[in-house]
Amino acid sequence: MRSIKVLTVCLGNICRSPAAQGILEYAAASRKGIDLQLDSAGTAAYHIGSKPDPRSIAALKKRSIDIGYQQARQVNNDDFAYFDWILAMDESNYQHLIAMCPEPYKNKILLFGSLPNSPSLGEVNDPYYDGEKSFEVMVDHLMALSDNFLAFLDSSSK
Ligand code: 4NP
Repeated sequence: MRSIKVLTVCLGNICRSPAAQGILEYAAASRKGIDLQLDSAGTAAYHIGSKPDPRSIAALKKRSIDIGYQQARQVNNDDFAYFDWILAMDESNYQHLIAMCPEPYKNKILLFGSLPNSPSLGEVNDPYYDGEKSFEVMVDHLMALSDNFLAFLDSSSK
């Protein structure tokens, strides 16, 4: 079984992309035939070395998913060659990645909520300046997006 390398990306790498990584790890572990190797990163450097936001950690803990071990980092040029898929949480992250990505790898970059031949589920809104409720909304949204992405991988490997 080939390992598929996936990088989830948001702005700060402390709220959305660490949560997306944890949810995809969890979702993939319960499916036979999919071996995902995951990491996450931010387009910005603000939080390099930080743990995920405590509100993201808490929202995922309620679903029995641990992301407390993660540490924020910034996207770098090597990521584009290394990963098979790079999932942007919102349009701004997507445009940032497209602008910095070498031409041969641009087709690895997808907007997580708008995968090819999949239902469109929208951007993952930035919950950083909002309350805890928005982190719950984010987790529900990411759960649906993760299922969508696993179905996309299934269909694109056939
Ligand atoms: P994230 O959220 O991109 O989902 O990690 C943010 C985290 C930090 C900031 C903005 C968004 N910030 O401005 O510090």
